[in-house]
Amino acid sequence: MKAVILAGGSGTRLYPVTTIINKHLLPIYNKPMIYYPLSLVMLLRIKDVLFIVNPHDLENFQNLLKDGSHIGMNIKYKVQEKPNGLAEGLILAEDFIKNDSICYVLGDNIFFGHHLPKLMKEALKEIEHKGGAYIFGYYVKDPERFGVVEFDEYRNVISIEEKPKKPKSHYAVVGMYFYDNKAIEIAKNIKPSERGELEITSVNEEYLKRGKLRVKLLGRGFAWFDAGTHDSFLEAGEFVATIENKTGLMIGCIEEIAYKNGWITKEQLLKLANPLKKTEYGRYLIELAENS
Ligand code: DAU
Repeated sequence: MKAVILAGGSGTRLYPVTTIINKHLLPIYNKPMIYYPLSLVMLLRIKDVLFIVNPHDLENFQNLLKDGSHIGMNIKYKVQEKPNGLAEGLILAEDFIKNDSICYVLGDNIFFGHHLPKLMKEALKEIEHKGGAYIFGYYVKDPERFGVVEFDEYRNVISIEEKPKKPKSHYAVVGMYFYDNKAIEIAKNIKPSERGELEITSVNEEYLKRGKLRVKLLGRGFAWFDAGTHDSFLEAGEFVATIENKTGLMIGCIEEIAYKNGWITKEQLLKLANPLKKTEYGRYLIELAENS
């Protein structure tokens, strides 16, 4: 399986903050936003990642994450000329994905929870072995902001709608999707929505029509943030700060995960940490190397 992380879009809901800075490079507490979705992909042990980025932000992403080799990964970038919608990323990623299955991640989504990687790994295995699409639902009080999934009394999915005015349930579809290779063809054949975007919900609807959509609900033990508005951005930062300050352990620390995955050695970790030794982040990495 390969991962595609969407980090394009216009970020208009965060204006004026995003007038000159890309949303995904803004800090969620003490790290760039993009570290959080990337770290989840790393926890799934996926090494091949493609970032979909805006033309004018490409260089910043390349400066930040390079080719990924410093953290034992293989990172590539693809420019999306205009924010034509989430599903366009599948089409743009075709050459990168080739015949593989896809872990499709939204760059402004932040997840936290015990057993989350285990749950996501189950989805990954199911798609690799059986095909289809596997998505996750999360109970929210404001479902009209999201893709919304509706169930019948037996918990079978009966509909999925993008930002409905009258949502049929409180279950929002979160920004982590697992697809077989057919997603690319499906994305090529969907039509733009009323707001003129190729919606990821249309891709999911097609899988539903084919009887190939599986939805798993994330319960109360999980935290999920779509950090695309000022309030959710702040909430996500406060959440990370609270957990990190309470435990002394970092969330979304990509160097730590690379080290624990065995993708980089202790020496490589120290090489990354040493230039940062005057910072809290650097000291955290040095302590990690020395105590393990
Ligand atoms: O966060 C979950 C929700 O994300 C889902 O419930 C919705 O079904 C899904 O459509 C999406 O809704 P949003 O309105 O939150 O999407 P947004 O425009 O914020 O874009 C999500 C991410 O994708 C964001 O990190 C920017 C990036 N993006 C967006 C567009 C439109 C791109 O890379 N290219 C694009 O063309």
